[in-house]
Amino acid sequence: MASSIARIVCLILLFICCGHGQDFGYDGKSGPDFWGLNYRGCNGGKLQSPIDIQLNNVIRKEFPPLIFEHFDKPLETVRLENNGHTALLSIKIGNLPNIRGGPLNATYNFTQLHFHWGRNDDEGSENLINNQSFPLELHMVLFNTDYGNFSNALNHDDGLVVLSFLFHRTIKENPSYQKFESGLPAVENFNASVDIVGFVSLDNFTTTDRSEYVTYRGSLTTPPCSEVVTWIEFINTIPLSHDQIQEFRLLSGSDGKLNHNFRPVQAANDRSVYMNIPTANNSNKPTNSNQKSSSTYLKNNLVLLVPVIIFSQKYFNFAVN
Ligand SMILES: *[C@@H]1O[C@H](CO)[C@@H](O)[C@H](O)[C@H]1NC(C)=O
Ligand SMILES: *[C@@H]1O[C@H](CO)[C@@H](O)[C@H](O)[C@H]1NC(C)=O
Ligand SMILES: *[C@@H]1O[C@H](CO)[C@@H](O)[C@H](O)[C@H]1NC(C)=O
Ligand SMILES: *[C@@H]1O[C@H](CO)[C@@H](O)[C@H](O)[C@H]1NC(C)=O
Ligand SMILES: *[C@@H]1O[C@H](CO)[C@@H](O)[C@H](O)[C@H]1NC(C)=O
Ligand SMILES: *[C@@H]1O[C@H](CO)[C@@H](O)[C@H](O)[C@H]1NC(C)=O
Ligand SMILES: *[C@@H]1O[C@H](CO)[C@@H](O)[C@H](O)[C@H]1NC(C)=O
Ligand SMILES: [Zn+2]
Repeated sequence: MASSIARIVCLILLFICCGHGQDFGYDGKSGPDFWGLNYRGCNGGKLQSPIDIQLNNVIRKEFPPLIFEHFDKPLETVRLENNGHTALLSIKIGNLPNIRGGPLNATYNFTQLHFHWGRNDDEGSENLINNQSFPLELHMVLFNTDYGNFSNALNHDDGLVVLSFLFHRTIKENPSYQKFESGLPAVENFNASVDIVGFVSLDNFTTTDRSEYVTYRGSLTTPPCSEVVTWIEFINTIPLSHDQIQEFRLLSGSDGKLNHNFRPVQAANDRSVYMNIPTANNSNKPTNSNQKSSSTYLKNNLVLLVPVIIFSQKYFNFAVN
């Protein structure tokens, strides 16, 4: 009797902890090394993300202009939520931003954006550049409108685009993030959400100097790790202060602190990584000087980054303010 009760309790516990393999995390037995047990897509594919982008190994190519629609419109109401894995922002009221052009053969509509961070400012980004981590990475997920909706697009290898932005640490706060940051404390707990009214535009939230980017075929960086993503990783980085980055680390997942949520880099497997050659035809440079000062950061450093494969962590974190 006692042993059969024990057995039932065991089964129930097993079901709760591993039931249907629906959950994943970033530590221990639910960490990235074990995702493949419950999600076969995370195991052994040849196009997994993130990767280490080696800038001396990219194929330079002049793409048509990337066209960003409605990125300049302030968003009326956005919803910020803690889904247990990240802080995720979707649009409740406002024009739906979309993109086309560049390496893309279709129009892609905005679905959501979210972040990846680390335990400290020396780590956090998922994609690396010349083996260099950044303290935060923003992923804007868009789906191919030819497939009608997001879930349908997940079944096609050109189904999704992730526009990816890296961050660099500054002394000064980034005012475009103040509204967003003011919402973060409300979503510290798993499954909490909050609406933010009178939000900034996606141009404010990212950077308008987007002519320099690398692009490659890859996957979602979370289960089910579907290999359906065209990655567009922008070279210009977004400035954010240490305190602003720190706010992300205060979030909790379903089983404790969510102080880091980046997947380690995956094998590039001889994938072609392209870098757009900016020309007068495909660049839309910022007109506003405030944007410009923030966005020339990595471009200036590219001169250093290209020839130097291993870049001093110290340089990145302390030379930039
Ligand atoms: C766009 O089409 C070209 C030519 O068919 C193809 O090589 C490329 O991979 C496509 N790009 C994407 C992002 O699907
Ligand atoms: C990348 O950086 C990590 C951590 O700094 C280091 O352990 C590793 O050896 C580096 N890999 C390459 C290929 O340089
Ligand atoms: C994509 O967004 C536009 C608005 O920007 C909308 O008119 C269109 O219906 C959307 N397409 C899909 C498939 O959701
Ligand atoms: C997405 O589109 C497919 C095919 O058109 C449809 O069967 C499905 O119900 C749609 N899903 C959602 C969530 O709208
Ligand atoms: C957002 O961008 C617009 C246009 O560039 C600018 O006027 C405004 O000051 C920016 N707002 C914030 C909060 O950065
Ligand atoms: C998350 O919150 C929604 C309501 O916002 C609720 O319906 C759902 O059951 C919650 N999920 C969990 C796992 O707590
Ligand atoms: C830029 O576009 C114009 C008109 O579309 C075209 O005539 C010109 O050849 C293009 N220049 C380059 C460098 O592609
Ligand atoms: Zn992501």
